Amino acid sequence: IANGLGMTPPMGWNSWNHFHCDINEKMIKATADGLVSSGLAKLGYVYVNIDDCWAEKTRDCKGNLRPKKSTFPSGIKAVADYVHSKGLKLGIYSDAGYYTCSKTQPGSLGYEEQDAQTFASWNLLQDIDYLKYDNCFNDGSRPTIRYPVMTRALMKTGRPIYISLCEWGDLHPAEWGFNVGNSWRTTNDISDTWESMISKADENEVYAHLARPGGWNDPDMLEVGNGGMTENEYVVHFSLWAISKSPLLLGFDVANATATRAVAHIVGNEEVIRINQDPLGVQAKKTRMMGSREIWAGPISGYRFVVMLLNRADAGDDDTVTAYWDDVGIPAKSLVEVRDVWEHKTLGRAVAGNISATMPPRSCKLYILKPVG
Ligand code: GLA
Repeated sequence: IANGLGMTPPMGWNSWNHFHCDINEKMIKATADGLVSSGLAKLGYVYVNIDDCWAEKTRDCKGNLRPKKSTFPSGIKAVADYVHSKGLKLGIYSDAGYYTCSKTQPGSLGYEEQDAQTFASWNLLQDIDYLKYDNCFNDGSRPTIRYPVMTRALMKTGRPIYISLCEWGDLHPAEWGFNVGNSWRTTNDISDTWESMISKADENEVYAHLARPGGWNDPDMLEVGNGGMTENEYVVHFSLWAISKSPLLLGFDVANATATRAVAHIVGNEEVIRINQDPLGVQAKKTRMMGSREIWAGPISGYRFVVMLLNRADAGDDDTVTAYWDDVGIPAKSLVEVRDVWEHKTLGRAVAGNISATMPPRSCKLYILKPVG
């Protein structure tokens, strides 16, 4: 949506992938602290997004949503004030139906204006904050009817807010989401396995041509650091999300310094983050498939290109993957400077015609190519 937000994909943290409903104000604040003390906030991870299960099951007698007394006794405004005081932004969650997906709190259907006013009164919409809007327990009408009602209600508050549509890709939101939100889920929920992760990336890739500054495809939040995948698999996960211009929402326990240190070299890789945050905002596409070997590529600013060499075989020997300049959109005879953004090494000036790498199953290489001369 043209609300001036999301000119690059949003970066931050969301409570769902690691904690599900087990959330409270203390750990949300501790997460904000963790983002700052680990240096992740400085790298751009500024959203602290509360997902489902923050509210009481029923509204108050005036029809207002109520923060859950047992877990958010100080209220959401106090949490928002704390998060803002750290220079971060707070995100909240609701649903375009009668209940949210956990069924533990009411949805916003029929209460859009009232809930938008509630969020505004908590200063949530003050500092360009974030609403994730889910699709459970709705009335059966099309999301293209229900979602814009909330978008209009939020806009009516006069405060800019990042709007994240969570419609799971059912009605091809990539095709209409730009008028309603700043990003849209293209898939159902990710889980912390290679199969789930890679299938989300594939489903999301289909809509690559529809992503642009202000409106991004969202293959769901990151699982890096949650323990279900190997090191190489998480590197592939983060690489794919970065080049797909996906929101980079961390899903591990950022309040835990040991957990954060263990994945800092992945989610804190500044070169990879910069690809995601590139001002051109073009989502990389699969440009060649050869069985389990794939090339994903796309342009970035400064007449450069990002290319990923992926070995997605599940097992077996190391395999050699080759990307030709043709696969990337660079004239075949060009000399190209190649930067390996995981090794942090510039490989000579070079390479004319193609680049190859040999790698184990379920791993990748990620390069920035810059034609020279
Ligand atoms: C849906 C969404 C998830 C999460 C849960 C919360 O499944 O797709 O991302 O928000 O609801 O209940």
